[in-house]
Amino acid sequence: RLEVTENFQGITFPGHLHTQESLQGALSFQFQDTDTLIATYPKSGTTWMQEILTLLHNQGDETMSRTVPNWARAPWLEQFYFSEVMKMLQAPRLITTHLPYHLLAPALKDTKVKVIYVARNPKDIAVSFYHFHKMANFLPEFGSFDEFLNHFLEGSVSYGSWFDHVRGWTKQMTDNVFYITYEEMWLNLRGSLERISAFLGRPLLAEQLNNTQKHCSFSRMKENPMVNYTTVSTDIMDHSKGPFMRKGKIGDWKNMFSEEQNRQFEEVFRTKMMGSALQFIWE
Ligand code: PPS
Repeated sequence: RLEVTENFQGITFPGHLHTQESLQGALSFQFQDTDTLIATYPKSGTTWMQEILTLLHNQGDETMSRTVPNWARAPWLEQFYFSEVMKMLQAPRLITTHLPYHLLAPALKDTKVKVIYVARNPKDIAVSFYHFHKMANFLPEFGSFDEFLNHFLEGSVSYGSWFDHVRGWTKQMTDNVFYITYEEMWLNLRGSLERISAFLGRPLLAEQLNNTQKHCSFSRMKENPMVNYTTVSTDIMDHSKGPFMRKGKIGDWKNMFSEEQNRQFEEVFRTKMMGSALQFIWE
């Protein structure tokens, strides 16, 4: 396994994708006002939003999403290849990040960058993330879901605490920050696309929206090698242990959580989310 990790500002990041320089570089990145930043905690719908924005930027034309890998058209700000990929991107640029808000706040201050924050119900994130740890060899392996869940609730997993992430990014919602959930996209993709395109100031024709909707469906994306990570070598992601595009459902946590785990989760959730107005759809 490629389990080398980088510890940065109290958070662990996979060393396969991050270096101290790349993480440090993200903090002082010079954004352009025309940039759109996708901010997510892992497994919240990052790839889905990368695909949606690629299609919206291309008026529903799928050529780009069929020929360029997601990381090369919406690169992660904190990953090692970022500066190389950026040399090839033209404005308006799509950038992705899993970093918590407090680390990026100084770089975003006084810019007009449009931020799209995608949140997902954290029980489904825990299940999705657990399965991802099995197939992604750059993440540590956990003996059981119970062990993983304890770490997830404690915040001692790669990319840090989900609670800190969601609270940080949604604390100061300005006009430049757009909040959407995985569940909203799942229940009403068309309405979500319309809301996103209005936020970006990119009105699309009905037919262009139809195309976007079609290409962003789970079944289409599962077959698209530019987003399903099947082009990555088995040493990095072992698809024999499960696909990246796993289930794409709401409420899968019910197939995994025991009653006791659910009770424990709810207790931690209540405490850590106290005073937060965020609402989640759980099933
Ligand atoms: S990562 O590793 O952080 O980039 O992962 P991320 O893309 O945020 O999350 C992966 C989960 O999103 C699901 N997914 C989708 N669901 C519904 N519709 C579409 N189009 C879609 N695309 C990706 C993917 O299946 C992962 O969730 P799980 O629950 O594991 O299936």
